[in-house]
Amino acid sequence: MLIALGVSGGIGAYKAVEVARGLQKRGHDVVAIMTHSATNFVGPITFEAITRRRVITDQWEAGANADIEHIQLASTIDLLLIAPATANIIGKLANGIADDFLTTLYTATRAPVLVAPAMNTQMFSHAAVRRNMDRLAADGVRFVEPGEGYLACGWIGKGRLAEPEEICDAAEAAVRPSASLSGRRVVVSAGPTYEDLDPVRYVGNRSSGRMGFALATEAARRGAAVTLVAGPTSVAPPTVDTLVRVRSAEEMHAAVTAHARSADAVIMAAAVADYTPDVRAAQKVSKTEGDLTIVLRRTPDILKALGAERASTGRGTVLVGFAAETEDVVARAQAKLRSKQVDLIVANDVSRPDAGFDAETNEVTLVTSDGVEAVPLQSKARVAAVILDHVERLLAARAPRPTAQT
Ligand code: C5P
Repeated sequence: MLIALGVSGGIGAYKAVEVARGLQKRGHDVVAIMTHSATNFVGPITFEAITRRRVITDQWEAGANADIEHIQLASTIDLLLIAPATANIIGKLANGIADDFLTTLYTATRAPVLVAPAMNTQMFSHAAVRRNMDRLAADGVRFVEPGEGYLACGWIGKGRLAEPEEICDAAEAAVRPSASLSGRRVVVSAGPTYEDLDPVRYVGNRSSGRMGFALATEAARRGAAVTLVAGPTSVAPPTVDTLVRVRSAEEMHAAVTAHARSADAVIMAAAVADYTPDVRAAQKVSKTEGDLTIVLRRTPDILKALGAERASTGRGTVLVGFAAETEDVVARAQAKLRSKQVDLIVANDVSRPDAGFDAETNEVTLVTSDGVEAVPLQSKARVAAVILDHVERLLAARAPRPTAQT
């Protein structure tokens, strides 16, 4: 495979040399493209010696336009990998700015794009950078999450370029999509539900939808036909076969139940409201001098209903639930596994700031009737891959792979 390695101007640029070597060791051909500022950190000659190809540093260099190189390269590469990606290049890509070779190549190519950000912790958590990354994710760009630790600027925190080995693994996965779920139908629910009190107020929760979106993305990458049932989220959902937008628990119940009938696996990553206002006022409720009492009634437990239906019909659908807890996480997940009659509960401690709701990363425990497996803190994309590995094992144990129609 031909991989374009874009190097932008961060101190992590020196690690990109290792990335180039790692990709070559895996049998790929690498063409390096450096932004002007990247050349302040590493010399183009270093990449040239390793890749044995001319390193592109300047869009206006003599020779670079003889065959309109960015267009020619755009149609021949199998992957555009940008490592390290600075806040600046992420901002440019998210906004379609094409003012140098690398950014022009990004807009010109239809190859998958993988971005490994690296920057100071404060920059990485800045709203503008988060916004740009969310926009890129919505445009189909995949990320290799930065690591945590000592940064070159002296800060301790998240922002250090991921290890070259991890970047090479992610690149490998991006260029060789597996077909391990082809022919399978997977339903994923994601995000919160909003339970309306009146036309302007609702009861909701802080779920961002990111975990469910990561699962839908990974299932689609593995070749599954994915139906994503998403509650109201500010993060944009990935591109899947069928996207069903819902608002309330009741709407989610109807959508999931309808799609579950033909599904091989249902993964309920949504944070479904357990209670909904007993009455939804047709007009905005005006305040009075006294307190306001709202009666909440139980919503249907979608997963439990699917579990009960499966137990009575014996259908082979694999059922996966999530357990968001703040204490006794594993014990409560085990109880949930039994009461909901499902195959796998993904338990997470939502009291931690770096895991669960609204975080980019997650640390979960997978609970099945066979035991408990701790999945360490990592990006939601990687956690999704571990969960789907389990789902694949459960599918293999339950139902034979459907044979192709002739
Ligand atoms: O019982 P608890 O709400 O903790 O269970 C969480 C799991 O059950 C999640 O997978 C969630 O999507 C699902 N759930 C559901 N219907 C509800 C509430 C939760 O399917 N009304």
